[in-house]
Amino acid sequence: MTPVRVMVTGGAGFIGSHLIERLLASGIEVDVVDDLSSGSLSNLATARSMRGGKLHFHQIDVKDAGVATLVERRKPEIVFHLAARSDVRMSMVDPMGDADVNILGSLRILDASRRFGVQKVIFAASAGVYGFVPEDSMPIVEDVAHRPESNYGISKDTVLKYLEVYRSNYDLEYTALILANVYGPRQGARGEAGVVSVFARSLLEGRPTTIFGDGTQTRDFIYVDDVVDAFWRAMDAGDGTQLNIGTGDEISINDLYHKLTVVTGREGTLPIYAQGVTGEIKRSVLNARRAGWYLRWHPFTKLGDGLRSVVSWMEAEASAE
Ligand SMILES: NC(=O)c1ccc[n+]([C@@H]2O[C@H](COP(=O)([O-])OP(=O)(O)OC[C@H]3O[C@@H](n4cnc5c(N)ncnc54)[C@H](O)[C@@H]3O)[C@@H](O)[C@H]2O)c1
Repeated sequence: MTPVRVMVTGGAGFIGSHLIERLLASGIEVDVVDDLSSGSLSNLATARSMRGGKLHFHQIDVKDAGVATLVERRKPEIVFHLAARSDVRMSMVDPMGDADVNILGSLRILDASRRFGVQKVIFAASAGVYGFVPEDSMPIVEDVAHRPESNYGISKDTVLKYLEVYRSNYDLEYTALILANVYGPRQGARGEAGVVSVFARSLLEGRPTTIFGDGTQTRDFIYVDDVVDAFWRAMDAGDGTQLNIGTGDEISINDLYHKLTVVTGREGTLPIYAQGVTGEIKRSVLNARRAGWYLRWHPFTKLGDGLRSVVSWMEAEASAE
């Protein structure tokens, strides 16, 4: 059953802002919780302008005790928990800051949800929870052992465990979406898959593009609308599950760069290579068949189409400036 009122933490961010538009378009009332540390109100411009939309913005840190009061007062039926420090590199530089937001902040959300009658929490987990996975286990299925190789991966993995404990002890329902590398319009440069927006922007602006490592590392790039569709479906399905959300196709960073040179009309422009990043995994590609069973979800957008829409969005932004 479609809920009347939901809360989206991290709603002023890249993925959250797209999710909110989909929710508002269906007449759902949305409370956004965001401290604007990496998100921005400009990401919510379309949502705010939606006719008949019921959007409420609360600038608050998920670590703040006031979050519980807000949940008590607003009484969301479903909480989409996306607020996080989503920068893997930053998690290696400042592990405490990462754990504070990604573990303790999440715990605050879970606890407030349990206390004030939230039916379900839908959590944005990451493929970083898997960490090292042997070559013969690719594409990764959900049952593979979790061996996170970054502090960010550890913090996301820890929340998966709390979700399970809260479900079995307090009947707080959940679905955790284990997201591959999400890309699309509005993505900042710092997020997990910021590479698409970083490469596209530097190519469009005629600046040199740096590839960290030798560029043979692979990733599974999933378009933001497809991810929003998975969040949407998880409201009514996938209870108690942790589901991969990816395309099942991997592409090397070198190939991604090449595709973007074509889409931006900068073919032949060579990248610069720099030293690889500590904690970064070599291969990552997700088998999302389980999300097909539980959510009837399937990726829809082809990489070429998704990259073209990112570039068109950037060009439109640049011409509006
Ligand atoms: N983008 C990806 O490829 C990807 C992949 C896997 C998982 N995820 C997860 O999906 C979620 C959304 O990612 P995104 O790419 O939209 O990132 P984002 O940085 O654009 O969005 C995160 C939002 O959370 C907010 N936030 C951060 N700390 C907060 C705090 N302490 N209190 C309140 N708000 C806070 C930020 O201001 C921002 O608006 C994150 O949980 C991220 O870890 C993203």
